[in-house]
Amino acid sequence: MPDSNKPASVETPDDFFASRMSRFQPSPSQIASARVRELVAEGRDIVKLTAGEPDFPTPETAKAAALEVMDANEIRYAPINGLLPMRRAAQAKFERDNGLHYELDELTVGAGTKQVLFNALMCSLNFGDEAIIPAPYWTSYTDMVQLAGGTPVVVECPPEAGFKMTAAQLEAAITPRTKWLLFSSPSNPTGAVYSPQHMRELADVLLAHPHVHILADDVYEHLIYDGRTFSTFAQVEPALFGRTVTCNGVSKAYSMTGWRLGFAGGPKKIIANMSKMQSQSTSGVNAVAQGAAVAALHSPLDLVHERTANLQKRRDMLFDALSQIPKLQCARPEGAMYIFCSCAGAIGKRTPDGKIIESDTDFVMYLLDSVGVAVVQGSAYGLEPYFRASFVATEPDLVRGGKLIREACAALT
Ligand SMILES: Cc1ncc(COP(=O)(O)O)c(C=O)c1O
Repeated sequence: MPDSNKPASVETPDDFFASRMSRFQPSPSQIASARVRELVAEGRDIVKLTAGEPDFPTPETAKAAALEVMDANEIRYAPINGLLPMRRAAQAKFERDNGLHYELDELTVGAGTKQVLFNALMCSLNFGDEAIIPAPYWTSYTDMVQLAGGTPVVVECPPEAGFKMTAAQLEAAITPRTKWLLFSSPSNPTGAVYSPQHMRELADVLLAHPHVHILADDVYEHLIYDGRTFSTFAQVEPALFGRTVTCNGVSKAYSMTGWRLGFAGGPKKIIANMSKMQSQSTSGVNAVAQGAAVAALHSPLDLVHERTANLQKRRDMLFDALSQIPKLQCARPEGAMYIFCSCAGAIGKRTPDGKIIESDTDFVMYLLDSVGVAVVQGSAYGLEPYFRASFVATEPDLVRGGKLIREACAALT
């Protein structure tokens, strides 16, 4: 029944909104997600290979610590840059895992790795400042740079190079306006992991350009497979320590995405400005999440390694299925949670109901409509024609998803 007391709605004019709103895009996976919701509402059974988060429970120690914080009623406004035990835990984590020593005033805490990255870009980029972003990239990088007023300088890293940026590409991308290299290894969406030797080569280029700072997004640090070694710039080249902001969080390593807890170590002045930025947006992260993160970070890494081994097994299941499909091409990912798969062999082909697949978005929608498998189009990550399939799904769904994608590809003529 319409509510007769409710006034007729008037549509807000477009020019009401700030110009900054047209500088960035909402999450690109939302086109597919909206269709997934429609299909689920119609009663379709959809295999979702879209998860951007591990599916393990929050570690028991973290949950117990959160309850302790609540029981102690220590839930007031927390300091903007994080409670002391949280900064100590981040300090100890950087020492233990990365051999990096940050003083307590060189550390800050935010609502996820995303917020600390956002703070760093917002506090430093002026219009015209450039941030180098190797592609394929996590979709938020380009949008956050643009929102902050900067210019993303996208460096395409082809599959033949393992989706990794070479030292020559980095050198060619640097200009006097370069402020940041925004760097992530393991990468979302490709799972590419830079070896210590490769990082060394990039570090040599950076050493020659002292105006370039490095924003290292290490959120996938522990999701690394086949015994590979994780490295981060400030560790690989101590001379870069003073111009690197190293970001991390508990989301991926501890399966604590919804707790929203990230942290960063970096030069005191940059860290202070990141906190200043946060002070006029969300303020300090809630004490419950900080208590949980402290417990997670202080616990031994056994659980993390056990979970990584489980993810590696699921990676292999999905990879084995996708790599045998004639129209697709993919490499076994070295880290993270995704397979970035070329669907070039499907482009130009005809679907059973007569539509031509012209782009990876068409291919993704075709998979969804024809066989009920959800993945994300590669164009969202800066490289076409690809799709990203997450191996965070149940083992039966990985098998079923692989089989259905194979059937959908076989039906293309
Ligand atoms: C590369 C990358 N960085 C950062 C994040 C966000 O992490 P957090 O949950 O800690 O904000 C994600 C999440 O998908 C990611 O893929």
